Amino acid sequence: RTLDVVTDSADLGPYRHYMQKEIFAQATALADTLAPALKQGFSPALFGSNANEIFTNTTAVRIVACGSSYHAGLVARYWIEEYTGLPVSVDIASEYRYRSGREQDGTLIVAISQSGETADLLAALRSAKERGQVNVLALCNVAHSTLTREADLVILTHAGIEIGVASTKAFTTQLAALFTLAGALAQHRQTLTPDVLAQLANCLPRLPAMFNDAFAVETQIEEWSHLLSHYNHALFLGRHTLFPIALEGALKLKEIAYIHAEGYAAGELKHGPLALVDEDMPVIVCAANDELFDKLLSNLREVEARGGKIFLIAEPGCEAAFPYCYRTITLPSQTGPLAPIVFTLPLQFLAYHTAYKKGTDIDKPRNLAKSVTVE
Ligand code: G6P
Repeated sequence: RTLDVVTDSADLGPYRHYMQKEIFAQATALADTLAPALKQGFSPALFGSNANEIFTNTTAVRIVACGSSYHAGLVARYWIEEYTGLPVSVDIASEYRYRSGREQDGTLIVAISQSGETADLLAALRSAKERGQVNVLALCNVAHSTLTREADLVILTHAGIEIGVASTKAFTTQLAALFTLAGALAQHRQTLTPDVLAQLANCLPRLPAMFNDAFAVETQIEEWSHLLSHYNHALFLGRHTLFPIALEGALKLKEIAYIHAEGYAAGELKHGPLALVDEDMPVIVCAANDELFDKLLSNLREVEARGGKIFLIAEPGCEAAFPYCYRTITLPSQTGPLAPIVFTLPLQFLAYHTAYKKGTDIDKPRNLAKSVTVE
């Protein structure tokens, strides 16, 4: 069984598709989602009245989710591990539910779901509760969902109703909420210096504007989509928090443009995908100007040496990569720890415009549903 929302094209306004409308709604959705954190800072109270006690007793974090929500969880692992030192694991809900093994007492199960009704996710969290003394934190876009009812702590994303089957604003707002979770755990457990914590908190009010500025890349991405629509395959590469964004970019292209795409951690290239690289393989790369940039650069050289066509999306400061690239786009500003949120936007545009060129049913891609309420 799947849930379908009845839509009325009248509320599309100037947009061709709901997905397009939802891409453009993201700066507002991010501001709405971050509003409570902007008022209260990284306070455990954002997650519920009993969060203080639960955060004190947390010994490990296990994230469970499906689809794009799973990719949001993969990003959160980097943030939570780095800011809190807690061990974090991320599981696909449909796999976790059939694995055995106890949960360490004090594990915080973070269940991420746009709808709060995904059958595998609900089964995974029920299974987690039987495996040890755990607490469940729900991250959901629907206030009164099965997921929020069954959780000890809740944080809501305020993305509004998402109609396009391929997740856009629900995904980026999940990332924003997960960043506040990492910050709140760090503040409560005093794992960062006040200075570092303040730097992280200062990123939040800047995010909606930073995201808005990134809309400037749309025209260039649209040009790329003319090229991309002629390929049957694509590779997406990233490192660190941009690795899950590569997975999400590949998922979007598969879902709506029906192009076979795979996301890889760039360091894994030599362990397999490099064998596929030739002039018929577009390679879309997300590059942050960070301490891993030099490593990424040597990955790009390997692709270029094999004739692969690199389409680079980069922060300012990554110009050393340009000689190896077929096309490049530079984001308007540095994105810091919020890079995965901002880099999502060009990849959404890429999937959207490529799908539009191909004439697919963008809002309702074949064989897919918005919310999967049976196994
Ligand atoms: C479906 C949707 C995806 C979504 C996934 C998980 O596959 O098409 O966009 O990411 O379900 O849904 P959830 O509501 O649990 O986030």
